[in-house]
Amino acid sequence: MKGLIIAIDGPVGSGKSTLARRVAALLGYTYLDTGAMYRSVALKAQRRGLPLDSGDKLSALASETRIDLRQMDGAADGTQQVLLDGEDVTAMIRTSEVAQAASKVAMVPGVRKVLVAEQRRAGEKGGVVMEGRDIGSVVFPDAQLKIFLTASPEIRAERRWREHQQKGDAIDLARTLGEVHERDQRDRERASSPLVRAEDAVVVDSTAMESEEVARLVVLLAKEQGGGRAT
Ligand code: DC
Repeated sequence: MKGLIIAIDGPVGSGKSTLARRVAALLGYTYLDTGAMYRSVALKAQRRGLPLDSGDKLSALASETRIDLRQMDGAADGTQQVLLDGEDVTAMIRTSEVAQAASKVAMVPGVRKVLVAEQRRAGEKGGVVMEGRDIGSVVFPDAQLKIFLTASPEIRAERRWREHQQKGDAIDLARTLGEVHERDQRDRERASSPLVRAEDAVVVDSTAMESEEVARLVVLLAKEQGGGRAT
């Protein structure tokens, strides 16, 4: 059976990664985190000391960058390994500095063009759960199932803060909430492919839902669209 393309978009901390990984595992699909691609370009730009407002330089950088997203061996939760020009940057791209830089890099149309083309190549065969900001609106406007996942800014900040705490990063909750608002604003207001809900997306508010409940709901919706387990 040919698998569906499932697009999951939403703001920072809405639970997209957890949801996308779980749905991919339940359906036997490939999970693809497009945010990791913007983060990888941002990390490379930072290392080279490139100004994050230089569209031309960032676009050139993106087109000479190779990003591989791989399923990690033995990772039952579907965690993905990120290779930047062959180097494993899986952990390095998860700092809040790289997150802030990624939201600036993602404003550059030339960078988006390069990464969107790669995302289309990666997902065109179907059987994929792709998460990001513009998957249902730009990357795969014909995706058979589009989810727009949201939650209140406070809950989203708390989730992000917990993730950092678990990794041993001491950051405070008020600062995390401030960063969530800042990134939301940049993601929603940028001229190129802003975060918008595709008209035909199913909106799911995860504020008061357990992640497993949300995943089961999405799997149910996928089955309604004819997307059973990939074979
Ligand atoms: O989902 P994330 O936090 O890893 O994404 C990092 C940044 O990349 C975020 O500020 C938004 C941007 N992004 C985007 O513009 N389009 C995507 N498809 C995915 C991420």
